Amino acid sequence: MKKIVLICSIIVAGLLLVSLRPSEPAGLQIAQDTPVWDVLQHFGEPAPNHRPDEAIAGASAEKGADLVLKGITKKPSGGKTSKQSAHFVCTSCHNIKKELPDLRQSDPQARLEYAQQQGIPFLQGTTLHGAVNRISFYNDDYEKKYGDLVAPTRNNLREAIQLCAIECSQGRRLKDWELESVLRYLWTLELTMEDLDMSPEAFSQLQQKVAAHQNGQKDQASIDLIKSYYQPGVPAHFVKPPEDRKVGYTGVEGNPENGKLVYDLSCKHCHENKRYSFFHLDDSKNTFRYLKKHFARYTRYSVYQVSRYGTSPMAGKRAYMPQYTEEKMSNQQMEDLRAYIEQEAR
Ligand code: HEC
Ligand code: HEC
Repeated sequence: MKKIVLICSIIVAGLLLVSLRPSEPAGLQIAQDTPVWDVLQHFGEPAPNHRPDEAIAGASAEKGADLVLKGITKKPSGGKTSKQSAHFVCTSCHNIKKELPDLRQSDPQARLEYAQQQGIPFLQGTTLHGAVNRISFYNDDYEKKYGDLVAPTRNNLREAIQLCAIECSQGRRLKDWELESVLRYLWTLELTMEDLDMSPEAFSQLQQKVAAHQNGQKDQASIDLIKSYYQPGVPAHFVKPPEDRKVGYTGVEGNPENGKLVYDLSCKHCHENKRYSFFHLDDSKNTFRYLKKHFARYTRYSVYQVSRYGTSPMAGKRAYMPQYTEEKMSNQQMEDLRAYIEQEAR
């Protein structure tokens, strides 16, 4: 009996202690895994126009993952969808992981080294990781090139996805529930505070600010601060092949070791064993000699030509190779690739 009384009093004392603990501050508590958009909205930034639309039935992030990674999924009504594209899946050209160590700069060399570290490819398209954190798409020269096609996508992620499904993937338009599924999947890839890589001091200051802040009230300075850690849109500048293809980009000395990274992490991603292209590339002398021979020529087999202009798409009919913008391959990296190919061709 005494034991029971003792146990009961311990429980009561415990409950009392818990209720006497100072209450949590009213504001939001953030950690490294808190989504960036949650913090922005807490500081009064309006929700982006690409938040999922709950009214669309049959959509799910799982189906979106299928569509992005495999190009096919189960219909809400049962059975399988047709393939979104006969040639590509989204990950032929886009990563789904973080691909820049510092999200403030689109530095192609930092991106290449990071790709090697992370074991991910180095591609013409920007990663879909953090796509929902951007508010403008197909920026700069893409607008010049595609004009009217790009205008509706400029500030609309849904339209950007559709444009890529049709023009980049050379496939069909996504149905409403498919598009919504892809979007929901992209929301699972949104940036968290960790991706911003703030210094511990800056992060702890922000944590205090967030906790003390009344949810939803506008604090533009804090919004601007958070946004200064990543790019709201990816810069995209087209580059021409060198004036004289024999000479190459002037004043640039190629480094074959770096060129090997470009070849392995980029070209082979699509061309090895004809993965996404009929044109096969491997590490044989024949292949390197072939590429070397055409490098400086004015043909569709010139690496300068295909990398800087891409190959031309034939609506839905065949795969094409997207060009590399300056941000996705520098002139230096192009000469590095050439130096590697020439070294291996010897
Ligand atoms: C053949 C290559 C290719 C395929 C396949 C492809 N894309 Fe793209 N995509 C690109 C390129 C190149 C761009 C140009 C802009 C960029 O990503 O920097 C782009 C742009 C985008 C953008 C806008 C990015 C931005 O920030 O400007 C989105 C979103 C996108 N693609 C989604 C998709 C989805 C979803 C799929 C699959 C249905 C897909 N893409 C398939 C090559 C491709
Ligand atoms: C996103 C996938 C992808 C990447 C990355 C890629 N290519 Fe391509 N490439 C293609 C496709 C698709 C074609 C079009 C030919 C076809 O229909 O198979 C092509 C065409 C070519 C051609 C012309 C062949 C022809 O038949 O016209 C060459 C040469 C070439 N690529 C070299 C390269 C080199 C070198 C790299 C690396 C810098 C590279 N490619 C990166 C997809 C890619």
